[in-house]
This record gives sequence, C-alpha cells and structure tokens, in this order.
Amino acid sequence: MTGVTKFPARVRIVEVGPRDGLQNESATIALADKITFIERLAAAGLQDIEVTSFVHPKRVPQLADADELLGRLPRTDVVRYAALVPNMRGLERAIKAGVSRIGVLTAASDTFNRKNINMNTRESITALGPLVQRALEQGISVRGYVSTSWICPYEGPMDKHKVAEIVQELFALGVDEVSVGDTTGGAVPAQVEATLDRLLGVCPGERLAMHFHDTYGMAVANTYQALRMGISTFDSAAGGLGGCPYAPGASGNVATEELLYLCDRLGIETGVRLSGIRHASDFIGRVVGRTLPSRVLATGAGTEA
Ligand code: HMG
Ligand code: MG
Repeated sequence: MTGVTKFPARVRIVEVGPRDGLQNESATIALADKITFIERLAAAGLQDIEVTSFVHPKRVPQLADADELLGRLPRTDVVRYAALVPNMRGLERAIKAGVSRIGVLTAASDTFNRKNINMNTRESITALGPLVQRALEQGISVRGYVSTSWICPYEGPMDKHKVAEIVQELFALGVDEVSVGDTTGGAVPAQVEATLDRLLGVCPGERLAMHFHDTYGMAVANTYQALRMGISTFDSAAGGLGGCPYAPGASGNVATEELLYLCDRLGIETGVRLSGIRHASDFIGRVVGRTLPSRVLATGAGTEA
C-alpha cells in the first residue's frame, strides 16, 4: 500500500443530504422544510453543504425548486452552499441563483453516464471543459464527481486505471477536488484500497473526497480504509438519506452520524456536533415520514449533548 498509513488529524465533511438524500425521496418536501433542514445542518457545524441540483426538473422533480431554494437560504460566510450542475443550462441557473460552488458530473461507466446525463463519458468530459471554465470565470469553485468508480449497475466492475485517467482529466479542467463515488454501495475495503492506491499515484489525497453509499453496509468499513490511506474529505448524508434515481437498488449515503461516531472514536476532529446532526435528522425523518437508516441515530447517541 502506498500513501499515508496514519489517520488524518481532521476530517472535512461534505454534507450531501439535502441533494443526494432528498433527490431520492418519494414524498414531496416543502421548500420551507428543506430550508429548516439545511439550517439545522449548518447549525451543527457543517461548513460544506450540497443543497440542491440544477438538473432537469422533470428528471429530478424533488429538486425542481433549486432556483428558489438558493434565494431563500440565509447568507453566510461560514457555510459553503453547493449545488450539482450537469450542463451549461444548469450553470446559467446556478449563476443567476448566486451559487458559489458547484459539483459537475461524470462517471467511469458510459452506460451510467448515458442514463444519468444523456452523454457517454468522453462526451461528458468534453462538455465539462467550457462548463468548468465559465464557472471559474464567474468566481464559482468547482468539484468534480466520478460516479460508478468501482461498480456500474449496468456494466459491472470498473477499471481503476480508467478511473484514475478521468480524475486526472477533471483536475486538468480546473476542478479543485474530485469526489470518487461508490454509487451502488457495492465496493468493499479491498477494492477501495486498490483504486485509492492507483489514485494516490496520480494526485494528492488532499484533493480527493470519498462518496460512499451504504447499500451493503460497507460504507463505514470503506471510510475506515480510506482514512487509513490518509483521505480526509468524506461526503455523507444526515440520517443516511440518499441514493441515485439512475442507480437502481442503491441506497443512502454513509450517514453523517456514523461518520462522526467513527471520527470521534478515532480522535479525528470534524468540527461537527452529533447532537446537531441528530436535530437535523430527527426533523427531516419526520418530514419524509420514515425512520432513517442511520444506526447511530437509532441508538439515541447525541441526545445527551
Ligand atoms: P437532456 O435531455 O440531454 O438535455 O438532459 P438537452 O440539452 O437535450 O435539453 C432538453 C431540454 O431540457 C431543453 O428544453 C433544455 O433547455 C432543458 P427545451 O429546449 O426542449 O424546452 N434542460 C434543462 N432545463 C433545466 N435545467 C437544466 C437543463 N438541461 C437541459 N439543467 C440533463 C440532460 C443532464 C439535464 C438530464 O439528463 C438531467 O437532468 N439528468 C439528471 C441527472 C441527475 O440529477 N442524477 C442524479 C444525480 S447524480 C448522483 O446522484 C451521483 C452522485 O451522488 C455521486 C455518486 O453517488 O456516485 C453525484
Ligand atoms: Mg451519491
């Protein structure tokens, strides 16, 4: 194994619950409830929150209120509200809404990309060139997503060398960070190690984020593997909300509560309070009308603080 074997002193959490989580809910969620959820997440100490997507409203009706949501969020210098942007039309909407950070999309799998954004991988990277450039010119910072980095729900296992090439291409376009996605939640720690080993050969670990879904209960194990390799940025969703409408069978992101519990027990700083996340998860769980999957949430941890 190459790279660091010591845990990072501090982990940066990128909360994706309002976007990755709510995009997958069948219940209609009122704009006011989304804002309350986001405010509670910010109050818990999160400084990076992906709040919505500027995708086609018919493709993801749950986030069709993106333009209005951004306008209604309280202005702050402390919290970075980000949004997912799939194309130039989405970027124009994001600029108008005053977004300061965006996430742009591609995937290791051509088939997933086609189903998700109606382009294959090569076409999507080509289209991202002018998109990233225009965002940067507008003073908007950009993270890249590489979905299906381990397993594609349509094509099966992905080639780590191809993932590394895509990551490098995204950095060359000007993104400041790449979030490496286990979209199906099917990866296990040995696969995380193999792919990360390859990625750490082409870029510094500080510029990578891990985006684990928890379909098979592997997200915390995968997180632990990535922490051992020095990765210090993780995407998570309060309560374990999450899923991609174009990845059938995939379930929620690693729960922010589980990530916090792990970091706390390992002595890793996050700046985020479990009690505050519980406050947000309890709220959004009532709104969506179901028990959220986070096991840490179910234990009552965080109620004492
Ligand atoms: P398309 O149909 O190829 O778009 O959709 P088009 O360029 O052909 O345009 C068709 C029409 O849509 C036009 O309208 C456009 O203006 C309009 P018309 O002229 O016919 O009236 N249009 C838009 N309207 C509003 N906002 C836009 C937009 N774009 C076009 N942005 C598109 C391409 C990407 C938009 C579509 O496929 C789409 O919205 N896909 C949704 C993708 C998505 O949200 N997936 C879930 C998120 S990804 C994920 O969850 C994975 C992640 O979490 C990481 C992981 O887990 O691995 C990030
Ligand atoms: Mg996801």
